[in-house]
Order: sequence, then structure tokens, then C-alpha cells
Amino acid sequence: MTMSAVHPAPTPPGGDAAAEMRDVHIGFRSGRHVTPVVRGVTLRLRPGRVLALVGESGSGKSLTSLALIGLLPPGAEITAGSVVLGGDDTAGFTARQWREARGSRIAMVFQDPMAALNPGFSVGGQIAEPFRRRLGASRREARERAVALMREVGIADAGTRYGDHPHEFSGGMRQRAVIAMALALGPSVLLADEPTTALDVTVQAQILRLLARRQQEAGLATLLVSHDLGVVARMAHEVAVMYAGRIVEQGPLDAVYTRPAHPYTLGLLRAVPDGADGDRLTPVPGLPPDPRRPPGGCAFHPRCPFATDVCRAEDPPLAESGGRSVACHHADRVSASHSDEEDR
Ligand SMILES: Nc1ncnc2c1ncn2[C@@H]1O[C@H](COP(=O)(O)OP(=O)(O)OP(=O)(O)O)[C@@H](O)[C@H]1O
Ligand code: SF4
Ligand SMILES: [Mg+2]
Repeated sequence: MTMSAVHPAPTPPGGDAAAEMRDVHIGFRSGRHVTPVVRGVTLRLRPGRVLALVGESGSGKSLTSLALIGLLPPGAEITAGSVVLGGDDTAGFTARQWREARGSRIAMVFQDPMAALNPGFSVGGQIAEPFRRRLGASRREARERAVALMREVGIADAGTRYGDHPHEFSGGMRQRAVIAMALALGPSVLLADEPTTALDVTVQAQILRLLARRQQEAGLATLLVSHDLGVVARMAHEVAVMYAGRIVEQGPLDAVYTRPAHPYTLGLLRAVPDGADGDRLTPVPGLPPDPRRPPGGCAFHPRCPFATDVCRAEDPPLAESGGRSVACHHADRVSASHSDEEDR
């Protein structure tokens, strides 16, 4: 796979983590029983850097993002590990502390902008709301700041569109409005869960440029969840691959894309010519495991062409290998097989 056409902007200096997950486990509670779905995820989001989280449906990407912003769905809970925001462990956060942190320290852009907008209120009013409610701005001042922000995210005629309701906006404009809402209070961390999946390719490119500009200018630490290899290649500095609730490979974009060391990553990237826009992750043969009953040993072994006896017996730890972390007993063999393919 060649990467030249889609390489992201130069990497700004790393710095300390703006948000961090340390060995986080998430489960769904039913009475006294907890079903684990995310099992030991460790992530660091650093200022000015984009970490992409990829993996097939049900692998735990959304729950991971929601845990970072304290918005797990009812029944889900963090059963072990910690979420740290700008150095503060959130374990003891009250509902009020979370409300204060959301928007000002960490914000999220979801796939479906309609779900984030209230259909009964004007778009501009919703963008202005945090300025009034959180910063105590006057109605006029909040409106001025909202209009400026609408302009900044590329909403044409922002002054006149201020009073429009969400249904009067196109899908792309609605997503711009939601991004404006997320950025209003200048958070240091942005979580974007499939932010452009619902949009057509041209609008997708505009939205990605907007996110990339903000990410660089404001030094945002960004977590990008995406199924689209082109989006990941253009935006991300680092990639984390999730399988059945665990991170199985994580490292710099180039290393993971060009020399995958986990068979699942290899499967996802296989047959993709150049990571151009619109390339989806390749479906890997076989079905993902039921998270309530993952197979023993390495959870990927029933689908893995490299599996041996040790894979069925022992779950491999995430370990450093060739400039990235990988959870595979046979990472060296996997990398070597990929190099052989490239040479042919
Ligand atoms: N509200 C819920 N109740 C019960 N189980 C849930 C709930 N939400 C998610 N799960 C389970 O948790 C696991 C992880 O879900 P998650 O939504 O994080 O996956 P995902 O990687 O975001 O998938 P997708 O790519 O489809 O968005 C899945 O097995 C899913 O079935
Ligand atoms: S540990 Fe074994 S089964 Fe798991 S991914 Fe590696 S080779 Fe495949
Ligand atoms: Mg999801």
C-alpha cells in the first residue's frame, strides 16, 4: 500500500496527554452480573495529535469514546482502570464536575448531527447557548460569538442563517453546526465518532479540512473513530486497532499501515490499493466473537490464519514490537509475511 498521496500534516510536538485511559475495563451490569465488553484499553491523547481508533462493528470503539467523556449508556460502567483528563483522575467526578468538564475540557462530535441538535430551536441559538449559560455572556454577545463561530466553520451567510432551525440546514451544514457547538468553549480534547460517515464525499473532505485546521491551530488532542482508511490516513498521526474490546495493535500511522504486525490489522488493510478516500476497511473472513463469551486464548484465533496451539491457550499481552505495540504471539511472522507479499 502506498501512502504518499494522503499523508497527514507534519507532526506537532507531542507533550503531555490531554486525556488518558489507563487499562480501562467497561461492562454491562444486569443485577449482580457484569458482562465485560471493553477489556483493558490504554490510550493517550496528546495536544495537536490525532489518534484514530479502528475496528469492526461491536469492537468497543464507541463505548471507549463515551467512557472518555463520562457518557456511558445506562447499564454500562467502568469496572476497572482510570480515565484521566488533563491530569485529573475522573473516578471521583460528580455529575456536576462532568457537566463542567464537557464542552470546556472535552467535547464530542457524533455521526448523526440531528441527534445532537434540538429540532425545536434555532441552530444559532443552540451554538450561542454555551456562551450564555457557561460564560455568562449577554444575549447579544453570545449571538455575536456564535455567528463568528458559524463563519469559522464555514456556514455561509451565518448572520442570516442564525435563526434557521436544524431541518432548514443541509446534512453537511448541520455537521458544521455540531462541530461549532463542540468547539465553542475551546476544549483541549475532541472526540469524533464517525464524524463524516453520513456525508457525501465532497462535504466529507470539507469537514475533515475544518477539523484538521482546528486540530492544528488550537492544538486539540483528537480521538477519531472511523471505518474509512482514507480518512484515517489523512487525519491521524497514530492508529489503534480494536478487536473484541481490546487494542490489538497501536502505533504511528506509517508503521501500522505499511507494516501491520497483527493478523487482524493485516486483514483489515489487505486489498486496499492506496488508502484513498472512500476505501473502507476490508471485511475479515469469519464473525467477531460474542463479547459475552470470547474464545479462550487469543480472541482472534478462530479467524486467524496464523493461529497455533499457543494462541488457543494463552491470550497474548500487548507488547512493544518493531516501533508499535502489538498483542500477538506471532507478530514477527505476521510482519515477515507482509514483507514477503510486498516483495512479490
Ligand atoms: N446500550 C448497550 N447495551 C448492551 N450492549 C451494548 C450497548 N451498547 C453497546 N453494547 C455492546 O458493546 C459492544 C461494543 O459496542 P460499541 O458500540 O462500542 O461498538 P463500536 O465499535 O462502536 O461498533 P460500531 O462500529 O458498530 O459503531 C458491542 O458488542 C455491543 O453489542
Ligand atoms: S496470537 Fe495467534 S491467533 Fe492471535 S492474532 Fe496472533 S497469531 Fe493469530
Ligand atoms: Mg460505534
